[in-house]
Amino acid sequence: MKPNLKIFDGLKHQEFVSLRPLIDETKAQVYIETYGCQMNVNDSEVVLSILQDAGYSLCDSIEKADLILVNTCSIRDNAEQRIHGRLDVFRIEKQKRPALIIGVIGCMAERMKEDLFNNRVVDIVAGPDAYRDLPRLVAAAKTGGKQINTILSHEETYADINPVRMDRNGVSAYISIMRGCNNVCSYCIVPYTRGAERSREPKSIIREAELLVANGYKEINLLGQNVDSYLWVNPDDPTDTVNFARLLEMVALIDPSVRVRFSTSHPKDMGNGVLYTMAMYGNICPHIHLPVQSGSSPVLERMNRKYTRESYLERVAMIRKIMPDCAITTDVIVGFCGETQQDYELTLSLFEEVRYDGAYMFYYSERPGTKASRSFKDDVSLEVKTERLNGIIALQNGISLENNRKCIGKEYEVLIEGTSKRCEEELVGRTPQNKTCVFPAKGHKIGEYVRVKVLSCTSATLLSEIV
Ligand code: 5AD
Ligand code: SF4
Repeated sequence: MKPNLKIFDGLKHQEFVSLRPLIDETKAQVYIETYGCQMNVNDSEVVLSILQDAGYSLCDSIEKADLILVNTCSIRDNAEQRIHGRLDVFRIEKQKRPALIIGVIGCMAERMKEDLFNNRVVDIVAGPDAYRDLPRLVAAAKTGGKQINTILSHEETYADINPVRMDRNGVSAYISIMRGCNNVCSYCIVPYTRGAERSREPKSIIREAELLVANGYKEINLLGQNVDSYLWVNPDDPTDTVNFARLLEMVALIDPSVRVRFSTSHPKDMGNGVLYTMAMYGNICPHIHLPVQSGSSPVLERMNRKYTRESYLERVAMIRKIMPDCAITTDVIVGFCGETQQDYELTLSLFEEVRYDGAYMFYYSERPGTKASRSFKDDVSLEVKTERLNGIIALQNGISLENNRKCIGKEYEVLIEGTSKRCEEELVGRTPQNKTCVFPAKGHKIGEYVRVKVLSCTSATLLSEIV
C-alpha cells in the first residue's frame, strides 16, 4: 500500500508553533475541567485554542477564573451525578463572585439542553459541535443572560484548529480523526450527544501530526468512536479516498521514531487491512482496543452490535495470527436488559478464552432516549449487576496478573512519560503493547526511549530496570 502522495505534497511543516497554553494573568482567565473519554480531553484542547484566540488565558483554579467550563460526559448516570456535584461547588464560587460565568459543554450539554438552566448556576450550555460559538456565547452571557447552542453538525471536524495541549508531559498527544457515531448500539447515548459520523480531511490530520512532531511529541493517538469506519472522500474527486488503514500508514510514515496508537475499533468493521498495516510499521503500536460488550450472542443482538460471539472470536484469532505480540483490551457491560446468569457466564468464558491484557468493565446504566430504554426493560437488579461486575473484575484482575507475569524476564522498548507517583527517582512509561512500566531513572528523562527488562509485576504494572 502506497501513501497518498497527493496529500503529502507540500506538507512537511517544520515551523515551530507553540502548542502549549499561553499563560498570561493580565488576560481574562478560563478554567476548564474535563470528564469522560479521550475525545473529550481533545475537545477541551480545541476549546482552549478557540478561547485563547478570543483573548482568554488558561488558569488552574476556580478561584482565579472569570469563566469556568466543565466538559461533560453522559455515558452512565454516575458520570452525570459527579458533574452535578461539581456544579454545586461552582455555585458556591458564583455566590461569592456573581460576575463569574459558568458553562456546561460536551455530551451532557447536548443531552440535557435547557434543563441544565434549572440548576441556576449555569450561564452557558454548548454541545460538542458548538465550540466555535463559545466566544460569542460568553460575551452574550455577560450582558444578556443564559445562552445555549446545541446544534449538531454534519460537517464540523474542527479541522483547522490547532488544539492547545493541556497535558504536562509534552510526549503523547491526541488527534481526533472523526467525530460522531453512526452505530446505534441500543444502550449508548453517544450518537445522540455527538451526532452523525464524519471523517476529518486527512491533510489536516497529517498537518497536526507534523506539528506535534516538530514540537517534540513522541506519541500520537488517533481518536474516533469507530476508527475503522474512517473514510474521507475528496469532494472534488470522488475516486480519491482515504480509509483508516491508509491514514494510519500516512501518520506512521511521518517519523519512524514517533509511536502511533489509535482507538476505538469496532469488531464489525475492523478489517485485515488495518492489521496488515500495523504489522508493517514498527512504530504503530501493537495494541487494539476491541470492545466486546458481552460474550452472549443474544445479548449482542439486543445491544445491536452486529456481530456474534463467534465472529468476535474469529477477529481476535486473526489479530493474533497476523500480530502474535499484539495486546488486546476491551470494554464490557454486565447486567444489560434481559441478561441471564447463563448470558453472564458466557461473558466470563469469553474473557477466559481471549485472556485480555486489560478491560474497562461497567454495569448497565439506562440512558434516557436510547433504543434500549424504549424497547427493553432494565430488569437486572442493582444487586445482581454489582455482583456480576465484581465477579468479572476479579476474573480479569487474575488474567491481567497472569499475562503480566509472562512478561517477567523479557525486554521492551519503553517511551518515558512521567515520574512515578510513589518515588521521584522512578520513571513511568509504556511498552508498545501499552503496559505500564516503572523503573529507576538512572539519569534518563521524560520523552526518551529506553530498553527495560521486567523484574516483577502486579496486575497493573511491570516493575522493571533499564538495561
Ligand atoms: N451503561 C454502561 N456502560 C456503557 N457504555 C456505553 N454506554 C453504556 C451504558 N449505557 C460503556 C461501553 C462503551 C464504554 C465507552 O462505555 O462499554 O464501550
Ligand atoms: Fe465521551 Fe461518550 Fe462520555 Fe460523550 S458520552 S464524553 S462520547 S464517553
